[in-house]
Amino acid sequence: MAQEFDDSFKELEQSIMEDMKGVYSEKTIDHFLSPRNLGEIPAPDGFGRITGPCGDAMEIYLKVRDGRVINASFRTDGCGTTIASGSMVTEMAKEKSVLEAQKITQQDILDALGGLPEDSLHCALLAANTLKEAIKDYLAFKNESWKRAYRGR
Ligand code: FES
Repeated sequence: MAQEFDDSFKELEQSIMEDMKGVYSEKTIDHFLSPRNLGEIPAPDGFGRITGPCGDAMEIYLKVRDGRVINASFRTDGCGTTIASGSMVTEMAKEKSVLEAQKITQQDILDALGGLPEDSLHCALLAANTLKEAIKDYLAFKNESWKRAYRGR
């Protein structure tokens, strides 16, 4: 009985994977199923939160040392492609200078993911905009870091 259940579960899993591969790139599926940098960074040097037009929100947390992003993480209540986009944008931002990270665009994320379906393009835009917001926050508090105590993060 348990074996039959295991077999039919594996079949179902395989068929879902086949369906996904017809729509999403392997990179996107990988970042969706095994998201990198998921979660909060305590006392971040930069924090951004944006709610996209679809109602999904993303948060990005940055740690910066000597003008370089040494750690980046994200959280989202969005769909699989939003998770993949947050995972990818935080991977791309890490080890870049703040100025380089600020230039990461929606298209850069789409290219790195191997593209997204038309109706998911805005997920990559949400990730790019949230990163920009986190960098803006970092730059705003850079010289007066004590003021971060008042922003609640
Ligand atoms: Fe809204 Fe992905 S569906 S960000």
